[in-house]
Amino acid sequence: MEKYVSLSKKVAAGGCVLLKNDGTLPVSGTVAVYGRGCYGYITAGSGSGGSVNIERNPDFFHALVRHGTQTDSVLREYYDTLNACHPLIHSDRWNGTPISWDECGVPDKVIEKIDPSATAIVYISRYAGEDRDMPADKGGYYLNDGEEALLAAVCSHHKKVAVCLNISGIIDMSFVDKYNVGALLIAFPGGEYGDDAVAEVILGERSPYGKLPMTIPISLADHPADRGFYENDKVIYHDDIYVGYRYFTTADKPVRFPFGYGLTYTSFDNSATVRADRKNAVITVESENTGTVDCESVIEIYMSYPECKPGTPKRVLCAFTNLGIIKTGEKRSAELYVDTDDFAIYDEYGDYEKNAFILPHGNYTFYLGNSADDTTEIGSITLKNDITVEKTNEALAPVEEFDVTDIKNGVISSRVPALRTANIYKRIADARPSAPEYTGDRGWKFVDYKSGHCTADEFAAQLNEEELMTLIQGEGMSSPKVRPGTGCAFGGVSDRLAYYGIPLVCSSDGPTGVRIDSGEFARCIPSATTIACGFDTAAAEELLGYCREDLDRLGVGALLAPGMNIQRHPLCGRNFEYYSEDPFLSGMLGAAATRGLDGRCTIKHFAANNKESNRNYSDSLVSQRALREIYLRNFRLAIKYGNVTAVMTAYNMINGISCAGNHDLCTVVLRDEWKFDGVIYSDWWTKANFEGERGVPGNLCVMVRSGNDMFMVTPTAGYNQTLHDYIENGTVTLYELRRNAKRILKYLTLPMFDGFEVYNSADVPEPTGEPVMVVKNVLPGKVFTVENRTAGKKTVRLTFDADVDDMTQLTVKVLINGACGATVTTNVAHGASALRTINVKPCDYEFGIECDDRIKVKMAEIYG
Ligand code: BGC
Repeated sequence: MEKYVSLSKKVAAGGCVLLKNDGTLPVSGTVAVYGRGCYGYITAGSGSGGSVNIERNPDFFHALVRHGTQTDSVLREYYDTLNACHPLIHSDRWNGTPISWDECGVPDKVIEKIDPSATAIVYISRYAGEDRDMPADKGGYYLNDGEEALLAAVCSHHKKVAVCLNISGIIDMSFVDKYNVGALLIAFPGGEYGDDAVAEVILGERSPYGKLPMTIPISLADHPADRGFYENDKVIYHDDIYVGYRYFTTADKPVRFPFGYGLTYTSFDNSATVRADRKNAVITVESENTGTVDCESVIEIYMSYPECKPGTPKRVLCAFTNLGIIKTGEKRSAELYVDTDDFAIYDEYGDYEKNAFILPHGNYTFYLGNSADDTTEIGSITLKNDITVEKTNEALAPVEEFDVTDIKNGVISSRVPALRTANIYKRIADARPSAPEYTGDRGWKFVDYKSGHCTADEFAAQLNEEELMTLIQGEGMSSPKVRPGTGCAFGGVSDRLAYYGIPLVCSSDGPTGVRIDSGEFARCIPSATTIACGFDTAAAEELLGYCREDLDRLGVGALLAPGMNIQRHPLCGRNFEYYSEDPFLSGMLGAAATRGLDGRCTIKHFAANNKESNRNYSDSLVSQRALREIYLRNFRLAIKYGNVTAVMTAYNMINGISCAGNHDLCTVVLRDEWKFDGVIYSDWWTKANFEGERGVPGNLCVMVRSGNDMFMVTPTAGYNQTLHDYIENGTVTLYELRRNAKRILKYLTLPMFDGFEVYNSADVPEPTGEPVMVVKNVLPGKVFTVENRTAGKKTVRLTFDADVDDMTQLTVKVLINGACGATVTTNVAHGASALRTINVKPCDYEFGIECDDRIKVKMAEIYG
């Protein structure tokens, strides 16, 4: 436990990026802490990636107090009274906690009593997330009026002011130009021990060491992804490969704080040399702590391309490391390897070789950086000839023209991406398997397949159409067949599949720890962005190892994580679940996470899922080059360097075709080119489309064809008439269904699913007889005593309604004597009903309901 806490705090401290400091930090003496958010702490963002149930109640203010800090008593008294009358709303509801707090300000007569020589800390929070982009409004990306007024008042009263931004994603920071802010510290969501880590940094018990994994622009309008970001249906990626710092450095545009930037309380003298290893580079780095405080040292190495036909970014991050804590006066060195293949240019026009990754001849120059804007040349390697690193297929090409940014020799112009020429439908037809034929039951069980006594083909050939259809659908959320409160159940979800001995297993969210909606606690680790600030793959790997322990303890197979998407635009609500705007940093950290999880991972959301608004229907219009060099590269690196067994496709479309129904994405690129042989499944309730049409909920036909093996999730997997009709008319074949089923079966042989506990092997049977209890309009929190003479399984039927959209995840818990006995998580709650099994002892028991206040439980019946 202690090791976990200390690692968790170390990583959270890395997510404290110090952007400005005139000596205000670290603080000493009495501090005056302003801002209502300080009486809490943003551990993660909102939504599935932040729904870990934790035992602790992190709170920044009390963390300071625990560390022995003297806080101003007048101010504390004022906030105590205010918070008692107007408590902060921390809601369990899906997106029920506000994005920012209503700052009520501090009256002049209170401020006047506060010692102006005390250091002021103004604590500002933001809590965007899944299904909830950060609005480009006051209280979202901008300070709300209360925050602005508070900052103005505090800055005119106190001589020393530090602003601490505990934010799920970046916000406008122009206030540093307006007010005399002496120190600016971002505290990205640091998990359940993050409050302590921030306090330790502010008090100087440890030095901040993190670097920005994204660029902070001067204004949103400057950002290369801003043009088109707000469009609902078609989001054109005009920025192309010039994402984040790739744009600002190449176009020579000023930023507020550059990628890779972050201050410490000490100083380092860093140096590096380069030597060539054929076409690759070996970089030897050394870092000496020349300051007065022990601190972790982050090393960033950038690379520039030779003069070549296409425009290239001025520099790209090509290697990095965290050398760990270097004591004052000491030095440490390391050797970093740059595989230039990982940075090859994608040639979509045929300047060198069409649809190939190229390393053009010439000098590749390397730089040691303190940020993307502050670099020193350290040497170069020379390639004599152009090298074709890899020949690929034309894949995912746009079908309509749009303009994207092109930058050559500092001149910004635009180009039109190469359009689709491939016949993607012929590809689908050509990839169609023609075996195995259905044999009926030959007596092979799953164990025979797993132990090599029969082949996958022999085993799968026994399954008929309905059984195959059942196998390719996950059930959930909170399936009663597996541990209560998990994200999905899959495998042997029906009696027939159980007959063949197919294990019935489950997976759960998500990127900040195991989300289990049953009341059980789990570890909440720092968010992906926070991890990224440390530039530390070893820490990322070790940290995710603790989530693996939680998976074991909670009886869950795999985590629906890490989130791998690129932080393309500052407003994407899920940026906290993602690492960086840079594909190399994201890819290497994602790889580390999958190693830490020992393969019990699901890298997501594949691919180009970079905003939350209209996430089910928005179409990302992207060039092949940008896909290959940015939006796919991060996933590819995770697969190359990590231990990836599962990939979750994204909700959005890419160039007109939804990711889950995208054969180019799932089969041509992921399987054929990258040789990925794990399982691919959709995001929850995905709406896949036929090209040219709008997505349809659970369009199994296009998913089966594309090679998206499993659809997540349906309340009950089984026969699907629509899919059958498509099989009948030849749009998809039974062989394709069997091919996907075989991949799921192979996935189920992985050790993570060994000895899996089955709660109810078959569907919960329709109860017979009269219910022993019926309660209408069940009020949450109210308990009912049920007289019970027989022990064992009882069936509960809940009938409920909720006024929410169909992407909202709401949970109802069935409490038995105060403990969670079963859960129902629903997204489509209108007039829904669900059956759950509960286990009770032979005694009277109290039955109750706990749920989001938007759910109305119209009736609860208990049978048995
Ligand atoms: C999210 C996924 C998540 C799934 C299950 C979806 O809404 O996009 O990231 O894993 O729900 O909670």
